[in-house]
Amino acid sequence: MYCPKQYASLRTFEPEKSIMVAYFSASGVTKRVARGLAYAIDATEYEIVPQIPYTSADLDWRDRKSRSSVEMHDPDARPLIARRMDDVSAHDIIFLGFPIWWGTAPSIIKTFLESHDLYKKRIVLFATSGGSGMGNTASDLKESAGRGEIVGSRILTGRESDDELREWARQYCSDEKPVEAGSWFQKS
Ligand SMILES: Cc1cc2nc3c(=O)[nH]c(=O)nc-3n(C[C@H](O)[C@H](O)[C@H](O)COP(=O)(O)O)c2cc1C
Repeated sequence: MYCPKQYASLRTFEPEKSIMVAYFSASGVTKRVARGLAYAIDATEYEIVPQIPYTSADLDWRDRKSRSSVEMHDPDARPLIARRMDDVSAHDIIFLGFPIWWGTAPSIIKTFLESHDLYKKRIVLFATSGGSGMGNTASDLKESAGRGEIVGSRILTGRESDDELREWARQYCSDEKPVEAGSWFQKS
């Protein structure tokens, strides 16, 4: 558990929070980054495994007919997940990681978000990419997050130190939102 019990201010007592790092990774890059993050912040780890694994032909973005191209061009695509995570409800903060596909999150991330009641959960997005930033990923996922709140979003390269990751993660422990609305989101 990374969020320590603490007095954030004289007014509020903040209980310890339970953190999960959930991620989807098609070719291993996000997996490595997610595991590093889970280790750095001492969080429970959960891999979002597709019921049908993606082959390299499926991932060919140059082929308009490849599985990833077809899914990403269909707003209703919801690729199935192999194993449902039962104890999402036990966690307060969910760091949710994925590769950037076509400038946004792969459709399976919507499947994940829509298959859980995320009432009162804080969701922090992170992604790996070939160079793109997070773009509109947070707003693209807002509807799927339902009653959960997407509170942050950033690209991780895998070169961040454990201290840097802890420092970044800590801001989401607080029950108090920063006064400045825009500062809740970290630009990638
Ligand atoms: C279908 C597909 C679309 C992609 N689209 C983008 C993109 O728009 N921008 C980008 O920077 N990288 C893009 N990439 C590259 C991946 O985001 C990058 O290689 C990522 O680190 C892969 O993570 P993974 O190994 O966890 O799957 C794309 C990759 C695939 C397979």
